[in-house]
Amino acid sequence: MDDLKAKYLGQISEAADEDALEAIRLAAVGKKGEVALKMRELGKMTPEERQVAGPALNALKNEINSALAAKKVALADAALDERLKTEWLDVTLPGRARRTGSIHPVSQVMEEVTAIFADMGFAVAEGPQIETDWYNFDALNIPGHHPARAEMDTFYTHRAEGDNRPPHVLRTHTSPVQIRSMEKTGAPIRIICPGRVYRADYDQTHTPMFHQVEGLALGKDISMANLKWVLEEFFSAFFGTHVETRFRASHFPFTEPSAEVDIQCSWEGGTVKVGEGDDWLEVLGSGMVHPKVLEAGGIDPNEYQGFAFGIGIDRLAMLKYGIPDLRAFFDSDLRWLRHYGFAALDQPTLHGGLSR
Ligand code: DAH
Repeated sequence: MDDLKAKYLGQISEAADEDALEAIRLAAVGKKGEVALKMRELGKMTPEERQVAGPALNALKNEINSALAAKKVALADAALDERLKTEWLDVTLPGRARRTGSIHPVSQVMEEVTAIFADMGFAVAEGPQIETDWYNFDALNIPGHHPARAEMDTFYTHRAEGDNRPPHVLRTHTSPVQIRSMEKTGAPIRIICPGRVYRADYDQTHTPMFHQVEGLALGKDISMANLKWVLEEFFSAFFGTHVETRFRASHFPFTEPSAEVDIQCSWEGGTVKVGEGDDWLEVLGSGMVHPKVLEAGGIDPNEYQGFAFGIGIDRLAMLKYGIPDLRAFFDSDLRWLRHYGFAALDQPTLHGGLSR
């Protein structure tokens, strides 16, 4: 019995890991282990022999079990020590700074514009950026031969050879959403549509993709006076100061009468400031929706009338936040975005102006 004890306690103290310990446990005190075999032999012994061998075997079993348990703890301690040595952590190291992204000025301005018009009861409408000829031109009273089509530098989609359907266009303005909204909800209606538009044009003030917000209000007796009030209200809220507007007679195929709207501004040292001075800056096109456009949208022009307008969002952002070059808006330059971008929940502040 002493040799058994010596053998297993020796093995246990040498065991290198938990797997080795488990193997020793099975061989020694497992159901078919050596101690169990010896216990089975007790039956063949005389009662006197059994009285000595029984307690001795039990004691051996207990001793081996406690040696196993003690070694298990020792192995776990050693493993932890090893991990602590190799996986140490310097809690005094400064953390790695993670830059949060910023909100693009165009997104910021879209939010601002949407909030201001929402206060005046305008809902947001949307339409596709890939449009049909019909919605982008014909329905807006711009027929095939009309010079406005050529002026707009339209991008056309490519049709496969033999496919004679007319090509789609990338919408050149947000005005097609007027027609889609009329079709969807009928009159009365009060919507704005902020979104992307496309024209083949590129210089300091033009990019092939830019943003507009369209406005449309139809009712039984909506007039130009309502248009003027809504726009003055809008510009004053947007620029945070009272802004005078000036309506200049103009022409758009989809409105009659039509007006281009200027806002009051001053030029100082090559920088424009809105809402003061006695200069004017053109910011949008507008007018009373043409009867043909109402008809194209399925609305009876003898029953309903109203106004529409279209504003360039990028230009509003340049004016309000003093951003000089439109092209930089779409360069994805992180330094630019950090400088001109907004943190979520930022309260926008007025700074600078647009340089001439
Ligand atoms: N669609 C015009 C453009 O892109 C802007 C415009 C002018 C929109 C007059 C209107 C409007 O709704 O009434 O140049």
